[in-house]
Amino acid sequence: RKMELYNGDENIFISIIIFEVFMSQTVKQKKKFICANCGAEYISWMGKCSHCGEWNSITEHIEHASPKNVYISSEANIKHPKKLSDIQLNDRGRISLGISEIDRPLGGGIIPGSVILWGGEPGIGKSTLILQICDAFSKKEKLVLYCSGEESETQIKLRAERLNANTDSCLVYGENNLENILQQAEQIRPSMIIIDSIQTMYLPGVDSVMGSPAQIRDCTASLVRIAKEQNITVMIIGHVTKEGNIAGPRILEHMVDVVFYLEGDRSYQFRILRTVKNRFGSTAESGLFVMERNGLKGIEDPSKYLLRNDIDDKTSGSVIVPCMEGLRPILVEIQALTVHSMTAIPRRIASGYDFNRLVILLAVLEKKAKIHFSSDDVYVSVAGGYKVRETAADLSLALALISVKYDIPLPTDTIALGEIGLTGEVLPVSLIENRLKESVKMNFKKFILPVRNKKDVVRFSETHGVPLLKDVVFVKNIQEAVNYIK
Ligand code: TYD
Ligand code: MG
Repeated sequence: RKMELYNGDENIFISIIIFEVFMSQTVKQKKKFICANCGAEYISWMGKCSHCGEWNSITEHIEHASPKNVYISSEANIKHPKKLSDIQLNDRGRISLGISEIDRPLGGGIIPGSVILWGGEPGIGKSTLILQICDAFSKKEKLVLYCSGEESETQIKLRAERLNANTDSCLVYGENNLENILQQAEQIRPSMIIIDSIQTMYLPGVDSVMGSPAQIRDCTASLVRIAKEQNITVMIIGHVTKEGNIAGPRILEHMVDVVFYLEGDRSYQFRILRTVKNRFGSTAESGLFVMERNGLKGIEDPSKYLLRNDIDDKTSGSVIVPCMEGLRPILVEIQALTVHSMTAIPRRIASGYDFNRLVILLAVLEKKAKIHFSSDDVYVSVAGGYKVRETAADLSLALALISVKYDIPLPTDTIALGEIGLTGEVLPVSLIENRLKESVKMNFKKFILPVRNKKDVVRFSETHGVPLLKDVVFVKNIQEAVNYIK
């Protein structure tokens, strides 16, 4: 048909075809597919992300050939390589906020020009914490630009009233368009920019909806660029859901300097600020808080908030374990419940505990200690909204399960510690002295511990003058632990 258009002139026809092919090659925008959960890229759509295993998380994105999505400073910024020995460190001093539960996880304070990501479920207290940081930071005569795409200026003001954080050095800007925010930042030159939240920001140049992985990634790239070029600290808030199936901040973790997760259960006061990544400090540090009427308060003695003081001797299925948050021990209560199952496949539900670990422990108990849970529904929960991440809590969970199965309550002042191997052996745990110290401080007197930690326990008793050994039962394997309580 095209030949007819050009009156059968073959030369014109061929030239036009060549031109069309050439144009389609140069103007063509690249299509790609990005997983909203982990940020993995694919050339074609797939139902399941082979990187993270998430279903239905891959969406299509158009990529522009030139990096026009990303903010480019108006200043001429041509850089040259420098000798390592010539690089000066003098202007990189940390700014301490004076809030120890935040300064410590930060590694001593905020480094100017760093980009910090604050992740957490909606409603957990991220905006509250950031406003408190903003208040502390602006009290040091530093200008802060607080950009919110989520709340109106009056809502922020109301929260500030509640937190008693009314400072002159904080500029509130209700804006979703990141280009406007970056323009304002270039004019105002604040020391800190707060983005609440990255899911509500967009760059008009990016062909994608607000909150999509492409928008989130390009917005963050622009913020990282302004932070590094103008030495502005950028605080980015990002929401993650329990399932992690929306474009969460996970995909940004490699772009920023520090990643914190604020965790906890909304129905409880206790909150924990976990460090996932820190280019300027240790990830072993964490901040512990309670949410009160006027904001988050740092706490020194978290065990008090997580332990009930009304546990009676007649309750079965509850065991206390000292878990480590970095170098700090926290006593938590693990509760278990088993009932005869009415379904073909018995239910296993774990809240605050790793589900897979629970399934492994049930299998070990079944095989090595001959305690059968295969026809029981099993429920496990950790009191106070704390999430147990340590295998050192294995023995306590196993004992809680046995205790509830045979309805034998353990004495309320009992502590159990130990990792359980697949062979049923009770393996030693790390930092046992710190854990024992906290337990003794909180008036716990009876201990069930791994035999391979005996040396450490003896040393602890001697150095602290605690006559611990009388009340300690050392167990070698799960069978011995079962015999002890049965
Ligand atoms: P918010 O910081 O808005 O959570 P996020 O930004 O993570 O979504 O706070 C969430 C909850 O905290 C809210 O339901 C009310 C509660 N809250 C307090 O209990 N005390 C306070 O001082 C403030 C400001 C909030
Ligand atoms: Mg918020």
